[in-house]
Amino acid sequence: MSRAQRKQDHITHALATGFAGASSYDDLRFVHNSLPGSSVDNISYTTNVGGLSLSSPIIINAMTGGGGETTESINQMLAQSAKATNTAMAVGSQMSAIKDPAEAASYQIVRRENPEGVIFANLGSEATPQQAVQAVDMIEADALQIHLNVIQELVMPEGDRNFAGALDRIKAVRQSLDIPIIVKEVGFGMSAEAFQTLEEAGITVIDTGGSGGTNFSAVENSRREAKWSFFDQWGISSAAAVAESSFVHKKADIIGSGGIRHALDAAKAIALGASAVGIAGKVLEAVHENGSEGGAAYLNAVLEQLTFIMAAVGAEDVSALQRAPLVLSGETAHWLKERGFD
Ligand code: FNR
Repeated sequence: MSRAQRKQDHITHALATGFAGASSYDDLRFVHNSLPGSSVDNISYTTNVGGLSLSSPIIINAMTGGGGETTESINQMLAQSAKATNTAMAVGSQMSAIKDPAEAASYQIVRRENPEGVIFANLGSEATPQQAVQAVDMIEADALQIHLNVIQELVMPEGDRNFAGALDRIKAVRQSLDIPIIVKEVGFGMSAEAFQTLEEAGITVIDTGGSGGTNFSAVENSRREAKWSFFDQWGISSAAAVAESSFVHKKADIIGSGGIRHALDAAKAIALGASAVGIAGKVLEAVHENGSEGGAAYLNAVLEQLTFIMAAVGAEDVSALQRAPLVLSGETAHWLKERGFD
């Protein structure tokens, strides 16, 4: 199975698999505020992650590049949507372009389309400091995401089986770059323990990437006779992962992601303690259906609706939204109680 074929497969299967089942965000409700004292006109949703100032808390999370024309055209549409809405955007894993420089164009198109935009590079935790520098330089990135995808690797027949040394490599990469490093999960959820370990290693931005959205176990299992389908139900839910991390975080900024469908999910992730929210699958769906205009329309709707939700809860900026009261129920409340984070 070639790397290019795998990248194409991920897009096809992610679109086909979609978001299934209940969302952990449905376990959360804002406490209605009859006297919010706010005005829609005064809402500001600028935010800050790891010292990077973002014009909104919505980030297009890492997806693709490196698989030929399809991924290049998806990256072009994503970058156009990002530019039109002033949204930060991550590219997919750049290891293929580091191994084969001919693949670099499918990532560089993101910078070409959006020269002034905030763009994140992306590699896995197998990356060396030298590869990290190459990935950042390739797209003049403002930050580097390092993804942790243990379950996806285990489910892939050609995937890694040895996860030793990841933390040491992440530390080495951190020392070789002077831009923020974002360590991210890809949909199985960062635990409080993993969050703390990364924070102690000096990582200042952590994307908690919980379950409930794109499911890389299901995606990989759907590409073959499923052998490891028990991993389809694996993971810490998106809301629980943000809540756990928020409970223990001291200095690191939290990006909440995994299964964010709309502005209400994003607002709830922020109210659980996130400084920004990553969305992958739903933006992919929007550009797949209606091109870059579809992507921009989806993102504009999220931003407009977020403004109204912030006004409703009386939060005129992101830090006020982080303090907005939520009531937790169902599995999410149960999980957090069992884990001692209630
Ligand atoms: C991804 N994701 C991903 N993440 C990463 O760090 N590097 C990558 O190369 C990819 N590739 C990728 C391809 C496709 C087609 C999708 C849909 C996603 C994971 C992504 O950034 C995110 O963590 C998960 O998709 C969970 O978020 P959503 O999709 O539930 O919003």
